[in-house]
Amino acid sequence: MQCSWKAVILLALASIAIQYTAIRTLTSKPFQLCPVPSPQNCGLLGGPETESPIEGRAGCDDYPYFSFNASRKTHIMVLATTRSGSSFVGQLLNQHADIFYLFEPLYHVQTTLIPRLSHSRNAADRRVMLGASRDLLRSLYGCDLYFLESYIKPAPANHTTDKLFRRGASRALCSQPVCDAFGPTDANVEEGDCVKKCAALNMTLAADACREKRHVAIKVVRVPEIGDLRALVEDPRLNIKVIQLVRDPRGILSSRIETFRDTYRLWRIWRATGRRPYNLDLSQLTVVCEDFLGSVSTGLSHPHWLKGKYMLVRYEDLSRNPLLKTMEIYDFLGLSMDKSVEEWIQTNTRGSTELSAKHKYGTVRDSAANAESWRLKLSYDMVEYTQATCQKVLHQLGYKAVKSAEELKNMSLSLVQDKTFVPFS
Ligand SMILES: *[C@@H]1O[C@H](CO)[C@@H](O)[C@H](O)[C@H]1NC(C)=O
Ligand SMILES: *[C@@H]1O[C@H](CO)[C@@H](O)[C@H](O)[C@H]1NC(C)=O
Ligand SMILES: *[C@@H]1O[C@H](CO)[C@@H](O)[C@H](O)[C@H]1NC(C)=O
Ligand SMILES: *[C@@H]1O[C@H](CO)[C@@H](O)[C@H](O)[C@H]1NC(C)=O
Repeated sequence: MQCSWKAVILLALASIAIQYTAIRTLTSKPFQLCPVPSPQNCGLLGGPETESPIEGRAGCDDYPYFSFNASRKTHIMVLATTRSGSSFVGQLLNQHADIFYLFEPLYHVQTTLIPRLSHSRNAADRRVMLGASRDLLRSLYGCDLYFLESYIKPAPANHTTDKLFRRGASRALCSQPVCDAFGPTDANVEEGDCVKKCAALNMTLAADACREKRHVAIKVVRVPEIGDLRALVEDPRLNIKVIQLVRDPRGILSSRIETFRDTYRLWRIWRATGRRPYNLDLSQLTVVCEDFLGSVSTGLSHPHWLKGKYMLVRYEDLSRNPLLKTMEIYDFLGLSMDKSVEEWIQTNTRGSTELSAKHKYGTVRDSAANAESWRLKLSYDMVEYTQATCQKVLHQLGYKAVKSAEELKNMSLSLVQDKTFVPFS
């Protein structure tokens, strides 16, 4: 039975495809955005991941808010990977009064389409995920939150759910009129309090709140590379600006080992015993570096389709100088930074131990001087291995490799080289 594993994989893929087809069929309004006169970019990607065709102008009259006005809404995307500080950047946007923010809606796509293969990187899974993700993102940028319901389990009844992933991370979803539990004076509602005190989320109200705001920001950690987003970036109906957040892969690895204790168990064993387990899943590291390399190479080569739409931010620069970096981000977005953003930065990056201890953003704990604290947590073996695997991307992003354990542990030498990444405008 040599081919039995192939058969299993084929079956699994077939079932994914069927599920996805079913979801798309069930969704009565696959495309909520009205087409504009020159959709020259449609179908750019071709192949099995091609998005559903634009369904004429049917239904557009029902959605007058979609009448296209490029100068009106900015569709902001924080493109990142887990443990790279993306929640922090998300909050920098979430705090702005004109921005409607969603925390990683693609979580629902992944859990629905590939529940058991949560770290799957096989090419076919990736394509299915990507096609579905682009469809969903396009709808969400148009404030069509109903589209997300197809992926939420259990399926929302009467457009109401208490299962939206990290609802509490979005200010608009924790304040009036979406949630009545807090008044306008409750400035910073804690994520847990929001989930506890707000009634189930009324998606109709949430979509209204989205439309009320001038801009939409979405944090995404499940899209591997900027190149995967080309169809969205070039979509003339959208006005996408991508903030790509990167971090030293050695820091990401260290942070994941602390955070995802089960998934990264073998890495902890390596750290504790000094011996690399034979069955260690090295792809947990290599994929990060490959994705960064692909993405950053694309971004920094300044392709015409990213002109004015791409900004690269290093987590370490942000933690060293949060206010300045945030201003640069808002500059790039063409928005003015409001007072609440500044206040949020003041409260959340001061790095006083008292605040750090109780605060939920990893970035606060790791902030400023601690951006390199991974050096005290990883063994030299692991660092050496990471450096060998990620050599190119470390160099490209200005992260210095160490040549000895002494150098690794000597915190008076920073491994973050000064490097400026001017947004491509
Ligand atoms: C587009 O938005 C701008 C800025 O809000 C506004 O001044 C302009 O009138 C709008 N144009 C249309 C056609 O709605
Ligand atoms: C949905 O709304 C209808 C009409 O208001 C109601 O009868 C039904 O019980 C609701 N379903 C759920 C699951 O709440
Ligand atoms: C959700 O909000 C809409 C708009 O206010 C309202 O019409 C609808 O009844 C609400 N749904 C539920 C289940 O309360
Ligand atoms: C750490 O690095 C600094 C700067 O290169 C050097 O002067 C110092 O001697 C080093 N400390 C140790 C303990 O190696």
